[in-house]
Amino acid sequence: MNTGHVELARAQQERWQAAYAKRPRLHGAEPSAAAHRAVEAFGAAGIDDVLELGAGHGRDALFLARQGFSVHATDFSDAALDQLRHEAQREGLDDRVTAALHDVRDPLPPADATVNAVFANLLLNMAFSQAELRSLVAEIHRVLCPGGVFVYAVWSTDDPCSQHWRRLADGLSEHDGFVGRFFDEALVNELADQWRLDELTPYQEGPRRMWRVTLAKDS
Ligand SMILES: C[S@@+](CC[C@H](N)C(=O)[O-])C[C@H]1O[C@@H](n2cnc3c(N)ncnc32)[C@H](O)[C@@H]1O
Repeated sequence: MNTGHVELARAQQERWQAAYAKRPRLHGAEPSAAAHRAVEAFGAAGIDDVLELGAGHGRDALFLARQGFSVHATDFSDAALDQLRHEAQREGLDDRVTAALHDVRDPLPPADATVNAVFANLLLNMAFSQAELRSLVAEIHRVLCPGGVFVYAVWSTDDPCSQHWRRLADGLSEHDGFVGRFFDEALVNELADQWRLDELTPYQEGPRRMWRVTLAKDS
């Protein structure tokens, strides 16, 4: 990480912390469309445990747990994770949901080939440099078992916001202090380089135009 990216990362972490503290359940209680897809993809692969990255306050982690999955949820906002833990306990799901603070710019904690499934809704489109993005996807590949599945969703360049947000360096954009990246199909394909690309679907969720992607690590 160069100095500019360290500062950007710190500012984004504070921005997210403040957003979750100001507005609990920031993303609502309903699971994302990608979480529904993840249930199908993980279920079809016979997987029942999931590592979720950028889980926020846990709308998807809790949904996955309600479907019977064991979920280890991580985020770099402890305000969000406190809400997730509280809600898991309130719903009696705390035996199936664990939560840990982790910045995905750092190496993922699991050892090589020890994780069956990774899920990340709207994380990869956060404020990562292209190099950080590539190394995050390589880390996910490293921790997954052969045959492991990675489901993610990101903002698409077809989203009207991609035209309105202020352009920053390295393909990033900014709005109201939040920095992110809009993905075109070429970037999704580039990140799928060492994977089997099982699904690449454009879709709309609320006002957002997105890509939903399912990748599998070769057995
Ligand atoms: C758009 S929110 C999505 C939250 C959740 N996945 C959902 O769909 O409800 C993006 C999340 O990524 C987290 N995040 C951003 N950068 C991160 C990083 N470097 N490491 C870990 N989490 C990060 C934020 O704190 C935030 O919770």
